[in-house]
Amino acid sequence: MSKENAITPAAFRHLLGIEGLSRDQINYLLDTAEVFTDINRRKIKKVPSLRGKTVINLFLEPSTRTRTSFEIAAKRLSADAVNVSGDSSSVTKGETLIDTARTLEAMAPDVVVIRHSASGAPQLIAEHLSSSAVVNAGDGLHEHPTQALLDALTIKQALGTLSGIKLVLVGDVLRSRVARSNIFLHRVLGNKVVVVAPPTLARPEFEAMGVEVHHHMEPALEGANVVMSLRMKKEYLGQSFVPTLEEYSHKYCITEKLLAKYAPESIVLSPGPFIRGTEIESAVIDGPRSYYDAQVENGVAVRMAVIYLLCRGLSARASTESDAGMEDLVDDEIIEELAHAKAG
Ligand code: CP
Repeated sequence: MSKENAITPAAFRHLLGIEGLSRDQINYLLDTAEVFTDINRRKIKKVPSLRGKTVINLFLEPSTRTRTSFEIAAKRLSADAVNVSGDSSSVTKGETLIDTARTLEAMAPDVVVIRHSASGAPQLIAEHLSSSAVVNAGDGLHEHPTQALLDALTIKQALGTLSGIKLVLVGDVLRSRVARSNIFLHRVLGNKVVVVAPPTLARPEFEAMGVEVHHHMEPALEGANVVMSLRMKKEYLGQSFVPTLEEYSHKYCITEKLLAKYAPESIVLSPGPFIRGTEIESAVIDGPRSYYDAQVENGVAVRMAVIYLLCRGLSARASTESDAGMEDLVDDEIIEELAHAKAG
């Protein structure tokens, strides 16, 4: 890994998106997550790495998987995890996002994880926070970086490689932050990415991201290694990108019959939540091609890796500035395991 591509404290101040990360940085994050995957399968899953650190999960949009896994990740690292949700916060009283973030920072968290319906919200608070690291847990239509990382880790485990693959994204690519993060990640790795959806959702603009655009399932699926189902967003259906969900489903639902014919070796992923029978057949999501459970499991490991590396960076900076901080991380087994994993 070249020096400038390494995840040094300077290079990894926040995680706001996949766009801009290098191949080495992505691989380093995934290698670190693999160490945590092993730890998560032990009888005792908790390690002392981040004792005394605090992670605030500021979720101003609904979430099941991401919020829960960030909380579990922080707790397994022995950090204190505090959850703030939209309907129970003073945001409902009209407090601005910047004021909320500054208020939380005054309580000295090390990491602030944010989900927000507005694209760019994590970037905005990162610009206003001086000492906490910010992690994007999904912002509007922009990015969902930890989702793309956990998807990549799942693909690597399932296929044994992250190189030379054809990834097909099916569904609401236009309004999918998961799609955008996956496109950035797989284009950096040199993989082929195909999007398939009605012309209103899979627009020619995607070609500028290095992606092949299709409106019919058969040619899109041909030879796919990974097929990812994207949720048709009910909350936006008023905008009428498809006439009805029934019509959409007739043409674009991922079925075992289609996969068996056009992508017989493919695995299937879904970021969740999914609508059975609309985007994906139950026989597929519950069948042997599906790695959905592995994705959820890897979500914890990836988020542990992100929180761990950010806190490590913050501690290293504190150490440079005031001769304090790094020593509280060096006594744990993770450092040894990471060194061992890297050497191997
Ligand atoms: N994949 C995902 O972001 O799911 P949640 O909305 O439940 O967090």
